[in-house]
Amino acid sequence: DARVSDPRIPASLIRLHFHDCFVQGCDASLLLDDDLPAIQTEKTVPANNNSARGFPVVDDIKRALERACPGVVSCADILALAAEISVEISGGPRWRVLLGRRDGTTTNVQSARNLPGPFDSLDKLQQKFRNVNLDDTDLVALQGAHTFGKVQCQFTRENCTAGQPVGALEDLDRVTPNVFDNKYYGNLVRGQAQLPSDQVMLSDQAAPATTAPIVHRFASNQKDFFRNFVESMIKMGNISPLTGRDGEIRKNCRRVNSKGY
Ligand code: HEM
Ligand SMILES: *[C@@H]1O[C@H](CO)[C@@H](O)[C@H](O)[C@H]1NC(C)=O
Ligand SMILES: *[C@@H]1O[C@H](CO)[C@@H](O)[C@H](O)[C@H]1NC(C)=O
Repeated sequence: DARVSDPRIPASLIRLHFHDCFVQGCDASLLLDDDLPAIQTEKTVPANNNSARGFPVVDDIKRALERACPGVVSCADILALAAEISVEISGGPRWRVLLGRRDGTTTNVQSARNLPGPFDSLDKLQQKFRNVNLDDTDLVALQGAHTFGKVQCQFTRENCTAGQPVGALEDLDRVTPNVFDNKYYGNLVRGQAQLPSDQVMLSDQAAPATTAPIVHRFASNQKDFFRNFVESMIKMGNISPLTGRDGEIRKNCRRVNSKGY
């Protein structure tokens, strides 16, 4: 149980699934290390460098699975399963994870550079979500994952004003930092969101007609939030999966299988 040594792991793992699925679909492209010239890793783009974490935990899960039943569970499915377990063990909802994704054999650094960022406007965030068929309800529900995990102060609205180094970690949800609940939305309503990209869902000019009513709904009804979060996670987990004979079941999540293996 990786949580024993690092209580942040559930948050880190669900974020990996997000950063995987938004870049050419849920194909575990994020997990590939540099193998130049064919493979340029996505791990060093701004959204991931010194930020995406939990890779050794994924390796451990993969190793155990390959020992028990080799060649069956893809790395992309591991990320989807890890995301669900992370939410469930942190007090959030549970759901049945659809499986059968296969692993890609390419990365897409260009697309990874375009992952949603903390200083994106509401319009930009909405566009990036729409690009993968996620709507305003999905945007508001999925950002609810900022109910746990950490943020470097350089990305917060306060921007290290207390003089901390830029990488100093703060809780994303300062009310219940490790619990998956709807307190995140209460923080927004009180103007206390950590990330600019969180707060814009209420503060942007266009918010009253789009995201703000959804934020208020989730702030006042955790069941409603949980129900929508599950729906949105399933939608996100279904972004352009590789199935059938496309892709492969990687043996090592960090490398594509060698040809003719
Ligand atoms: C809407 C666009 C989003 C933006 C702009 C965004 C931005 C960020 C940023 C800047 C951080 C802090 C990274 C750091 O300080 O190193 C973060 C952390 C996190 N994000 Fe998001 N995020 C978004 C959506 C999501 C979604 C959809 C999920 C999951 C469903 C998610 C889950 C998390 C979690 C759990 C953490 C904490 C990770 C940890 O502690 O390791 N985020 N996000
Ligand atoms: C990633 O971060 C490391 C510091 O840990 C830095 O040396 C490196 O230049 C960064 N890579 C990119 C591509 O920004
Ligand atoms: C945060 O503060 C630093 C130092 O004052 C500054 O260089 C940087 O541009 C600020 N970042 C943002 C996003 O405002």
